[in-house]
Amino acid sequence: MRKIGVLTSGGDSPGMNAAVMSVARSAAMYGIPLIGIKRGYNGLLRKSANLKDDMQELTLELVLDIADDPGTYLRTARCLEFKEKKYQEKAVKTLKSMQIDGLVVIGGDGSFRGAQALCDLGVPCIGIPGTIDNDLPYTEMSLGYDTAVNVCVEAIRKIRATSRSHDRPAVVEVMGRHCGDIALTAAVSTGSEIVVVPEVPWTVEGVAMQLQRQLNRGNYRATIVVAEGCWEAMAPFDLYNFLTSRGKPCYPEEPMSAVRFASVMKRMCGMVEARANVIGYVQRGAEPTARDSAFAFEAGNLAVRLLRDGISNQVIGMQKGKVFYMPIEKALKKERYFNRPLFDLVNSL
Ligand code: ADP
Ligand code: F6P
Repeated sequence: MRKIGVLTSGGDSPGMNAAVMSVARSAAMYGIPLIGIKRGYNGLLRKSANLKDDMQELTLELVLDIADDPGTYLRTARCLEFKEKKYQEKAVKTLKSMQIDGLVVIGGDGSFRGAQALCDLGVPCIGIPGTIDNDLPYTEMSLGYDTAVNVCVEAIRKIRATSRSHDRPAVVEVMGRHCGDIALTAAVSTGSEIVVVPEVPWTVEGVAMQLQRQLNRGNYRATIVVAEGCWEAMAPFDLYNFLTSRGKPCYPEEPMSAVRFASVMKRMCGMVEARANVIGYVQRGAEPTARDSAFAFEAGNLAVRLLRDGISNQVIGMQKGKVFYMPIEKALKKERYFNRPLFDLVNSL
C-alpha cells in the first residue's frame, strides 16, 4: 500500500472519529500515509474547487485531537450519483492519481454498496459499520447504536420522571429509519409500557386499547416509545376527521406524527394530557460510549491490517463479543433479525 484513504458516509454516528483515529494510529505504525476523504464519496468525485476541501492528509497529531469528539471530522454527506458506474469510475481515477491503493469506508449498508462497487473496479476496500440504526444484519454492533440507545434511555428516564409527577402519559419518538431496534432496546431498558416499530404492523386503535389497559390498572404515566419509521407500518387512519370532529384543528393531508399521535391518544383514552417528545439529533451527535469507542479502536486497526496484508472486499463486525470480518457481498445479503419475542413482552406486561 502506497497510501490508504478513509471516508465516513451516510448519517454520522458516534465513534466515527474514534475509528478514524485508530486507522491513523495503525497506518502510522505500519508506515503507510493516510488520506482523509471529505463528505463521503463526494470527496472522491473532486467536487470542490480546492483539493484540500476534498482530501487531506491525516497526520497522527491532527487525528489524536479529534478521537473523542462526536460527529465526524471528515464530514459526511450523501452522494446519490455514486450509484452510477461512470461516477464510480471517476472515483477510481482520483484514487489512482493520488496513489491511494486501499480505502476504509465507515458507514451503513448504502456506503458498503459503494465500497463493493469500488472493489468490483479493482480498488481494495474494507468497511467499518457506522450507523446508529443497527440495521446491518451481519453484525451485533455498529458504531453509534450503543450511544444512541444510551442517550434515549437517559432522556426517557427524565421524561418518565416528570410523567410520574404529573400522572401523564408520554409519547417519545426515537430515530432508526426503518429499524425499530433503538426504540425496542430503549423501551426495555426504561420499563416503558408500549413500543411501536416499523417491523410490526399496528393500528392507532390497538395502541389506544393498550394504553387504556394501563389506565384501567391505575398506571396514568405510561410511556409509548415510537420508532421514527413506525408511521409507515400504521394501518390507514383518518387523522383529519378524527381531530376536527373533536374540535382540534388539522390540515386535510397532515401526516401522523408523534405530536398528532399524542393528541389522538389523549382524546381516544379521555385523558387530560398526553405529551409528545421527539429526541432527535441528540442521539446522533452524542459523545461515543466506551463500548462504541472500544469497537471503533479494534475495527480501525483491523481495517488497516487487512489492507496491509492484501485482504480486501471485507466488512468488519462484532459477533459474540469478538471482532471479525466477512466479504461485503455476503454481509449485504444477510437477513435482519428483529427481536419479536422481546417486542411482544414489552407490549404485553
Ligand atoms: P448508509 O451508508 O448509512 O446506509 P445511505 O444509504 O444514505 O447511508 O448511503 C450513503 C451513500 O452511499 C450514498 O449517498 C451513496 O453515495 C452511497 N451508496 C448508497 N447506495 C449505493 C449503491 N447502491 N451503489 C453505490 N453507492 C451507493
Ligand atoms: O441512518 C441514520 C439516520 O440518523 C436515521 O436514523 C435517520 O432516519 C436518518 O439518518 C436521518 O437522516 P438526515 O439527518 O439526513 O435526515
